[in-house]
Amino acid sequence: MKKRLGVLVSGRGTNLQALINAGKKKDYPAEVVVVISDNPNAYAITRAQKANIPVYVIQREDYKTKKEYEEKIKEVLMSYKVDLVVLAGYMRIVGKTLLSAFPMKIINIHPSLLPSFPGLNAQKQAWEHGVKFSGCTVHFVDEGVDTGPIIGQKVVPVYDHDTPESLAEKILKKEHKLLVEVVKKLFTENYRLEGRRVIFLKDKEDERR
Ligand code: GAR
Repeated sequence: MKKRLGVLVSGRGTNLQALINAGKKKDYPAEVVVVISDNPNAYAITRAQKANIPVYVIQREDYKTKKEYEEKIKEVLMSYKVDLVVLAGYMRIVGKTLLSAFPMKIINIHPSLLPSFPGLNAQKQAWEHGVKFSGCTVHFVDEGVDTGPIIGQKVVPVYDHDTPESLAEKILKKEHKLLVEVVKKLFTENYRLEGRRVIFLKDKEDERR
């Protein structure tokens, strides 16, 4: 049985698409079972519909408090019995309600090598800073902004001729690979947290030895 992914989105959904595509492969251990968008105009919604995946639009402004908003998201995720929640271009800070409902079960993809350049427009921040390498990070979500324990990263070089747009494009290609790889790793390898460090054991056998 495949593990069940709930994906939260706000925009065009190319990372969602990468997970949908991976999930269709026989040997991939997980599949997207529900998509939640906080933005009714997100193209990610169309991607989910095309793949026949149930999609819910849950907008922050329809709820008085963040807690009520997140209670609704939690209810949907629980009803689909998700094993992991993936933030794929979900542009909101996750609050206590979701964090405590899914402890160490929410991951986020971010377009920089964290802890450098958290927050919005990370690719432009990196380009303006003049770094020679940037990349992307997948991390567990905690109460901070892009601060949780790092699970995986991929690096891209930044050349003099790069623009914020060309850099973002290069990073995005790596994001799709990284996200698919990390989700697979989380379901096929054992891991534990040592301080902030996510330590993977080589395979499930290793832990028994
Ligand atoms: C991606 O670049 C993702 O890393 C970024 O938004 C984009 C979403 O693209 N997320 C953040 O900046 C979160 N801090 P997508 O909708 O095509 O997957």
